[in-house]
Amino acid sequence: MQFVMDCLNVNEQGNLQLGGCDLKKIAEEYGTPAYVLDESTIRKNCRAYVDSIKNYYDGNGIAIYASKALSCKYMYKLIAEEGMGADVVSGGEIYTALTAGFPADKLYFHGNNKSIEELEFALRNGVGRIVADNELELTRIDKIAGELGIRANVIIRITPGVDAHTHEFIRTGQIDSKFGATLENGEADEITALAVSLKNIDVKGYHCHIGSQIFELAPFEHAAEIMMNFIGDMKDKYNIEIGELDLGGGFGIKYTESDTPIDYGEYMRAVSVVVKRVAEKRGVKLPFIIVEPGRSIVAEAGLTLYTVGTIKDIPGIRKYVSIDGGMGDNPRYILYQSEYTAISVENPLAAQEDVITLAGKCCESGDLIGENMKVSEFKTGEIVAVLSTGAYNYSMASNYNRIPRPPVIMVNDGKAKLAVRRETYEDLVRCDL
Ligand SMILES: Cc1ncc(COP(=O)(O)O)c(C=O)c1O
Repeated sequence: MQFVMDCLNVNEQGNLQLGGCDLKKIAEEYGTPAYVLDESTIRKNCRAYVDSIKNYYDGNGIAIYASKALSCKYMYKLIAEEGMGADVVSGGEIYTALTAGFPADKLYFHGNNKSIEELEFALRNGVGRIVADNELELTRIDKIAGELGIRANVIIRITPGVDAHTHEFIRTGQIDSKFGATLENGEADEITALAVSLKNIDVKGYHCHIGSQIFELAPFEHAAEIMMNFIGDMKDKYNIEIGELDLGGGFGIKYTESDTPIDYGEYMRAVSVVVKRVAEKRGVKLPFIIVEPGRSIVAEAGLTLYTVGTIKDIPGIRKYVSIDGGMGDNPRYILYQSEYTAISVENPLAAQEDVITLAGKCCESGDLIGENMKVSEFKTGEIVAVLSTGAYNYSMASNYNRIPRPPVIMVNDGKAKLAVRRETYEDLVRCDL
């Protein structure tokens, strides 16, 4: 049986197994809900990106993990061991990375509205690159760098106007976006003019990110072509040599059988052809390439274990199966109707002939993990796994209804390790005065 997560299998007891660990035993030992991730799959995914740059772009680049996908100390340590950089989007992510011993110079600080405190924190701590999103931010970076007596290494975020055919809420590359300086209306040119005029700023490169959960090569190739031509235009206009091109993340993963991810090597091969072609045509030097995969590093490595509770069958309407988690640990359905696959841990091979709505336990009608999900007949007390939840689940989790967040458990070679412990009720009130 092939599951949407390649790393899943069924053991001799007939139970679902991940990283050599029986998931029924994991549920017994750690309780549910619980996020469980296979460490060797995460490492394999990291290596696929690192190798793709070696194989198709002479190693002239770096893969940086978009840590918003799953941010915890364990992940930053693992990513550092794999020789990758990390994309961080807040002072909190920078702090988490630094406390994990992550090298500051390999941090790339993103965000469309970084606070002055965050920028200062980043610059004081030697964060490698600030990805400047807009003119206000550039002037703030320049001022803070001046006060600190340093020069800030900046990458400018451009919105290249590429429609990556994905869900509206996770599309970030088209003109109607809160991110970056728009190319079509001249903003990108203007922000470059400002950046080169500021004395405490070193313009190292340009950045774009065209969306998420993308399954086609064409939008990436298109974005690379636009960005390289823009580098050429800016060289002609301002006589600047841009050394770095950050092409963002957005590589799709498999949540359900209908998802067809692209091979990362194939991505790098195709994009490097475009970059080399335009570099030659425009007479610009080959940039150091940065790629920022988040979801594709962790999503398919992880799942969430839940215990089934109430079952409410409304004849002719729908059958609700409620689990002991929900939008607090996985807000992606309520946010953008993301689809998931759910299977029984003890009965993973059973025919999936029941059609259900998998509901959470929060006091919110929209608190669902999925609708019209085809599953085996789930019973009260049964442990079920919702697959491919490694990305944007723990990192998006909340304490809505004062429900403690689940633990993050890393499994590898038959051993389980806590990366993040389960929250307690005391944790819930730790900031209450
Ligand atoms: C700037 C930037 N880089 C990288 C990513 C990672 O995207 P993904 O997790 O889809 O690979 C995102 C996601 O929102 C992003 O905004």
